[in-house]
Amino acid sequence: MLFNVEKILKLIWLFVIICTTSLITFYKLTGIEFDSTFYILLFTFLFSYLPFTIQYKKFHVKQQQELLVINGCIATLIVAMVLPLPSHAFLYFIPVLSILIQNNKIFYIINSVVLISYMTSDFNSYIEMFSQTAVFICFIILVRYVGGLIFSSMRRNFYFRKMINALVFAIETKDVYTRGHSLRVAEYTYILGKHYNAFGGKLDLDTLKIGAMLHDIGKVHIPDHIITKEGPLSLEEYSEIKIHPEYGAEIARDFDYPSEIIGDILYHHERYDGKGYPYGLTGNEIPITARIIAIADTFDAITSNRSYRTAFSIDKANSIIAENFGTQFDPSLKEVYMSAFPELSKKKVKFESSNYLEERRAI
Ligand SMILES: [Fe+2]
Repeated sequence: MLFNVEKILKLIWLFVIICTTSLITFYKLTGIEFDSTFYILLFTFLFSYLPFTIQYKKFHVKQQQELLVINGCIATLIVAMVLPLPSHAFLYFIPVLSILIQNNKIFYIINSVVLISYMTSDFNSYIEMFSQTAVFICFIILVRYVGGLIFSSMRRNFYFRKMINALVFAIETKDVYTRGHSLRVAEYTYILGKHYNAFGGKLDLDTLKIGAMLHDIGKVHIPDHIITKEGPLSLEEYSEIKIHPEYGAEIARDFDYPSEIIGDILYHHERYDGKGYPYGLTGNEIPITARIIAIADTFDAITSNRSYRTAFSIDKANSIIAENFGTQFDPSLKEVYMSAFPELSKKKVKFESSNYLEERRAI
């Protein structure tokens, strides 16, 4: 439910590959020459979705819809201008443009008019007219269906992120000392994930960042007097705090979040040496994403003020973390952490000079 845009784009490309391969095979086997409409469909699909597929993650969710439509329009225009097509071919441009209209009825009225213009264009025979009209109708329906699917998943993703933002805000208003913690941990985790991938890892950074953003969501269940307590916690209070990963995972399950995110929330306090909580898992029993979040979580905890102590310097935090690889943290991540450290430090400095509410709005 989370990354439908990616899944839909994969389906589109699978569709293009299957159609192209089967059509080429068909034409090769029968000796029939390629029809110009085949080129129109193939090129329009390729250029309508290829730049979008490559670039869309670099844009904010709010801008992705416009990006897709602009991409589709430019691509169709280029295809209509460049390819040696009959004059009516440029009508393929209109369905792509009209997916901007978020209303099925209006979309189909506009495209029915376009369809009539298309059918009354110059064709060499009735057979050609009927075959090309059939392809054109399929094109209109496909454009609408695929556009609708992508737009609705973009909207879902947008509201999903808004909901995450609201949940995190709800936890962080409880304690002024941890305000901004989730956002900072999400950013640090993203940096660590990026470096992990540069060393050959294959993490989905978007999912990883959301897992990190939500890691402490279970704290909504912890009584305020424990969260905001100045000074050390009693054993009883500490055992109450230790339940927050399980509470958080339960909330994430209720929201039907992906299993990777549930795992990140549940295991972010596990330690490599098995001395963590809630289950005391060791080594590779802990998902790699949770092992990365644990480093980011500690980096932020050490470099931030708490009700019971002031923040450590970045260099002190660096030496504390470096000493704990092999015990608290996965030793195989030491190289990743070392390479990410300069970027983590820069980010920390940037957070110190920025406004919490502005940072939240930028998510
Ligand atoms: Fe936590």
